[in-house]
Amino acid sequence: MPVDIPKDLITELASAERVVVLTGAGVSAESGVPTFREAHTGLWSQYDPRELATPQAFARNPRLVWEWYEWRRSLIQNAKPNRAHYALVDLEQALPTFLLVTQNIDGLHWLAGSRDMIELHGNIARTKCFEEGHAVTWWAETDEIPPRCPYCGGPLRPDVVWFGEGISEQSLRTATDAAAACDLFVCIGTSAVVHPASQLPLIAKRMGARVIEINTEQTAISVMADWSILGKSGEILPHLVREVGFPTTAIDGAAQ
Ligand code: OAD
Repeated sequence: MPVDIPKDLITELASAERVVVLTGAGVSAESGVPTFREAHTGLWSQYDPRELATPQAFARNPRLVWEWYEWRRSLIQNAKPNRAHYALVDLEQALPTFLLVTQNIDGLHWLAGSRDMIELHGNIARTKCFEEGHAVTWWAETDEIPPRCPYCGGPLRPDVVWFGEGISEQSLRTATDAAAACDLFVCIGTSAVVHPASQLPLIAKRMGARVIEINTEQTAISVMADWSILGKSGEILPHLVREVGFPTTAIDGAAQ
């Protein structure tokens, strides 16, 4: 599908000094990872994620929550980064100052090669102790679900942020400071409804940055964005990198 990107957007990105990108589940959709809202097809469709992704849900039924995340891990384990992920790696390499803030927990940005990044909501591949909160990389395999922490015996849980839980202060401070200092903020593949990530484009805008949104639908921030580009991030981002004239090393490398 031809991608129509306004010329003034190209000029803005080409001359940007400090860029912050916020991604959501839409960036991973073309890798076959269901977006957050679609993630409950089939077996789990009868559950509301707000009834699963909370500490209370885990305390009430740890087995159900652990198995839900095992199911989501199974959806992700064969997923590969798509052209949107690689285009963001090329942007990181080309721009003077760049920070990627992702709400995604699938690890695909890291796999594609992004390094100046913050996983605001954690990473589903990591596990931690429910009681003590420390990371756990090994535990005795038994029939018990969820498995137990080898240090304190408490149940293990995925290292992701649940509804009602706080985000790491350091991650949030870094993301907020970067949004306040950037001259261009790019929102990609997020419904922009979950706090505090949804505040970042507003902070950037308030501090004088221009805002670009790339999404397949209008969202809560479309009205305040300087450019709202409708379409798939896997098609728009590689085209954008080429139009700006930045090297497409990561995009081309992935295509081989
Ligand atoms: P959502 O599922 O709420 O929104 C995904 C967005 O991506 C929607 O606006 C879609 O229109 C858009 N989209 C879908 N396919 C796309 C594509 N190919 N290209 C561009 N956009 C596309 O997911 P998030 O906004 O990421 O937290 O949800 C935010 C947070 O809510 C998640 O991180 C999750 C939940 O609390 C955790 O799981 C910890």
